[in-house]
Amino acid sequence: MFKDKVAVITGSASPQGLGCATAEALAEQGCNIVISDINQENCDKTAAMIAEKHGVKAVGVAANVTKKVDNHTLATSAVEKLGRLDIWVNNAGVLRDDLFLRMSEEDWDLVQNVCLKGVFFGIQAAAKVMMKAKYGKIINISSVAGLVGSPGQANYASAKAGVIALTKTGAREYASRNICINAIAPGYIHTGMTGALKAEIQAELAKMAPLPRQGTPADIARAVRFLASSEADFITGVVLRVDGGAAIGL
Ligand SMILES: NC(=O)c1ccc[n+]([C@@H]2O[C@H](COP(=O)([O-])OP(=O)(O)OC[C@H]3O[C@@H](n4cnc5c(N)ncnc54)[C@H](O)[C@@H]3O)[C@@H](O)[C@H]2O)c1
Repeated sequence: MFKDKVAVITGSASPQGLGCATAEALAEQGCNIVISDINQENCDKTAAMIAEKHGVKAVGVAANVTKKVDNHTLATSAVEKLGRLDIWVNNAGVLRDDLFLRMSEEDWDLVQNVCLKGVFFGIQAAAKVMMKAKYGKIINISSVAGLVGSPGQANYASAKAGVIALTKTGAREYASRNICINAIAPGYIHTGMTGALKAEIQAELAKMAPLPRQGTPADIARAVRFLASSEADFITGVVLRVDGGAAIGL
């Protein structure tokens, strides 16, 4: 399905994370991969694992998504190293949870910068390259927190809601260039990020989904892969919940 295509996935170096699972799901179907994250060594390790396991080309390119220049360098590196850029997944994210009255300005800014401004810069960088090819798929990782709110996550939930508005706005702006921009809103998935939450909060989150099992990184990865594929060529500006039904009707 993705033979000779090239995908960039931000925040994808952690082997337990949604980004790495997405890289694997795409590589499984022949996609060449740029693993990007803040640490070059971790990017290289994950890229080497993907290349060996799936027999595709994979390279690591460090980029801090909060820096506009890093996003542009990442996009041009994909073309320089792997020849093209077809798919861009804005996946990098951080949590700095606290209640409204206790949340510091620093934690507000960090989460907005990574989760919202990073996605804005990512869309800019990807679209600039994709416009020339008149083809592209951009997938933004939002969250059900951005749809229904989440106590203790004012910074995160508002950034993730902003990602939905960026997705819809970008989809409208770039449709005429044949660039589809969609969002995934995952529910609770056990990863390095959520593993750092208190055990009782993790248990509470896991109980929110009506489907009788926990979601996995592969569940999210397969949804990203669908939106990145030609099966989704007439889909742009949607927010696909992959949450076991947690936000049904909310
Ligand atoms: N795990 C969940 O339950 C869940 C639910 C909804 C949404 N999400 C979203 O899914 C995405 C992936 O999260 P995850 O659960 O795999 O967590 P994760 O911590 O494994 O992955 C996030 C990655 O982003 C990277 N990152 C952080 N700041 C960065 C920066 N400035 N520049 C580049 N990379 C940076 C981290 O190094 C990390 O590898 C995030 O956007 C997260 O908000 C996760």
